[in-house]
Amino acid sequence: MTASPLRVAIIGMGGFAGEHHDLILRLEARGECQLVCTCDPRIEEFTERWEALHFEERGVCLFRDYRDMLAAFGDALDIITIPTPVPLHAPMHRAACRRGLAVYLEKPPTLNYKELESMIRAEKAAPKLTNVGFNYIIEPNRRALKARLAAGEFGVVREVRIFGRWTRGSIYYTRANWAGRLLLDDKLVLDSPMGNAMAHLAHNALYWAGDAPETWAPVVIERAELYHAHPIQGADTVFVEAETPGPVVRVAMTHACIGQSRDYEEVICDDAVLTTRMGWAPATGHYRDFTIRWTDGREEMERLSDFRHLDENFRAYFAYARGEQPRPVTTLADSRPFVHLNDLAYLAAGRVTQIPDDALRHERDDRWGAVLEIADIDDIMTRFLGTGAFPSAQDVPWAAPGGTATTKELSRLADTVAMMVE
Ligand SMILES: NC(=O)c1ccc[n+]([C@@H]2O[C@H](COP(=O)([O-])OP(=O)(O)OC[C@H]3O[C@@H](n4cnc5c(N)ncnc54)[C@H](O)[C@@H]3O)[C@@H](O)[C@H]2O)c1
Repeated sequence: MTASPLRVAIIGMGGFAGEHHDLILRLEARGECQLVCTCDPRIEEFTERWEALHFEERGVCLFRDYRDMLAAFGDALDIITIPTPVPLHAPMHRAACRRGLAVYLEKPPTLNYKELESMIRAEKAAPKLTNVGFNYIIEPNRRALKARLAAGEFGVVREVRIFGRWTRGSIYYTRANWAGRLLLDDKLVLDSPMGNAMAHLAHNALYWAGDAPETWAPVVIERAELYHAHPIQGADTVFVEAETPGPVVRVAMTHACIGQSRDYEEVICDDAVLTTRMGWAPATGHYRDFTIRWTDGREEMERLSDFRHLDENFRAYFAYARGEQPRPVTTLADSRPFVHLNDLAYLAAGRVTQIPDDALRHERDDRWGAVLEIADIDDIMTRFLGTGAFPSAQDVPWAAPGGTATTKELSRLADTVAMMVE
């Protein structure tokens, strides 16, 4: 890799690829990189963006097909970014690795444990490990807290609890052919709040549960119930309890909610409870609080403000690509526990249960179109996180019991999902 600006390509123009374009423009202005080329099958639909991003002045070459782009420019690039639909990640990643490129791959790398293993093999052809763009591991406060946790400062870690309610509606589920799907043309998609939008938080859960600073805890046994309220094939509401060699991890997430999106991560230790929570205030914009509540009553709080996650993740990967950092923030192998957590949820639940309309409230939302909320969903999620009682054990009328699965059963994933679709 050269010390001059890194030569970058971005696959995709719209959706989250648009964020990659804005970011690369910012980093280019700082002399850190240069966008050489980009592609999208619908490239001509983005003419306004070409202008806003000054493609002509910057000499950016445009393609429809990423394979043509790689054939033309593969030797003239250092890094390629892949912020495209999740089912396309693996073939794009393989092609980039074969061209000897370092890859910044959007999260989740894939939602199929088998495909992940093939991607880990594929990256051996590349000069550098792939970075998976989970947003939050880079936060300095999070890393410092994890180091203290792993050193045993808070006593034994008993439980990790993740609560996530992020509103999504008809506009989200109709934006692309893979949204909300379990399968697309017989290929596993497994799109869900835990697999996609809030995948960051599930990956964070396993980070807290890992017993050393740069480790993510493997899942041993998992129990799950999956539900949908939106008219989709996959789940929009997920309840998961995973046993790891360390703490129990519980995740409750939904897109079937209205109003303020919010989430929190809680780590229950013998001597303290650690909580991280995102907030927003007019004066500061977005911030994240990290709170330690000791059992003896002491409290510590830190606030992370003005932190641009995508910028910092890219700058960390550039530093790694230049040989200034020993490893990416999250590698493909680091993502293995997350992908297993996701896949075991389907094996354990065995079905996605429909929530009847009489348990739903419907509204229209300027950003998301038709949105809906499951009655009492916040309370149901909170009770589950605190006690481990799934909805089916809470006398919730629409609930249906799930089951249990272990990693030994992963090979049944494709058959199980095919049955769920039937
Ligand atoms: N890090 C984050 O905060 C964050 C936020 C949102 C999405 N994401 C991730 O970004 C990725 C993309 O998600 P999205 O919702 O924007 O997807 P999307 O379906 O909106 O597609 C993104 C772009 O890829 C393009 N594309 C589709 N097929 C292509 C092909 N064959 N070649 C080149 N481009 C192609 C689409 O035209 C679109 O412009 C996913 O991995 C998602 O999880 C990350």
